[in-house]
Amino acid sequence: MGNILILNGSPRAPKSNSKRYAEIFSKSCKTGADSSNISKTNHAELCRKIGAYRNVLLVFPLYADGIPVTLLNFLKTLENTPPEGKPVISVLINCGFLEYEQNSVAVDMIRFFCQENGYPFGSVLKIGSGEAILDTPFRFFAVRKIKKLAASLDSGNPVSLQVTMPISPKMFVKASTNYWINYGKRYGVSQEEMNTMEIESQN
Ligand SMILES: Cc1cc2nc3c(=O)[nH]c(=O)nc-3n(C[C@H](O)[C@H](O)[C@H](O)COP(=O)(O)O)c2cc1C
Repeated sequence: MGNILILNGSPRAPKSNSKRYAEIFSKSCKTGADSSNISKTNHAELCRKIGAYRNVLLVFPLYADGIPVTLLNFLKTLENTPPEGKPVISVLINCGFLEYEQNSVAVDMIRFFCQENGYPFGSVLKIGSGEAILDTPFRFFAVRKIKKLAASLDSGNPVSLQVTMPISPKMFVKASTNYWINYGKRYGVSQEEMNTMEIESQN
């Protein structure tokens, strides 16, 4: 068993960017890490499990400027059924927008949860351009910060880190617009269709 339990709080955990970030983290940490996805049905199991670890790393995306409901519901269960031992809780969050600061409110939500429920709060890594950065030449910026995060959990010295792509907002908007237009084309959806609410009913 490792020193760290990684919990993936993305609603699309098996295919998520959070999964990719968690895998890089796992490979980088020296004291060993185990991983689980948070699902609707495994809250009780995870609440028991986390008591056996010194560190828990929550890896999740920013959703509507806050924490995704998958993670929120798990925290509600954890509040009602706490484990005996309380691990240090750290955060690796990624958001779609360029600015990593967008993640700050979600991080505060976790910090507040920790304060209210008696968990020591550990390290933070906020990633901006999280949907894109791993598939660009700037990948190494993110990997370098994830390695620093892993080293901080290994050593028990908390850090607060952030990373994003070193490009202008204008360039980011241009590149991401092209990305989504081409993505739509692959599935036979035009830009005009993507600009309407009807896109929601196509799933
Ligand atoms: C429903 C929804 C809401 C989102 N809200 C935000 C947001 O408020 N700000 C932001 O920067 N990105 C937002 N995003 C983008 C995600 O944070 C981004 O795509 C992230 O990489 C998803 O990570 P995951 O694959 O681990 O779930 C949102 C995505 C979805 C699907």
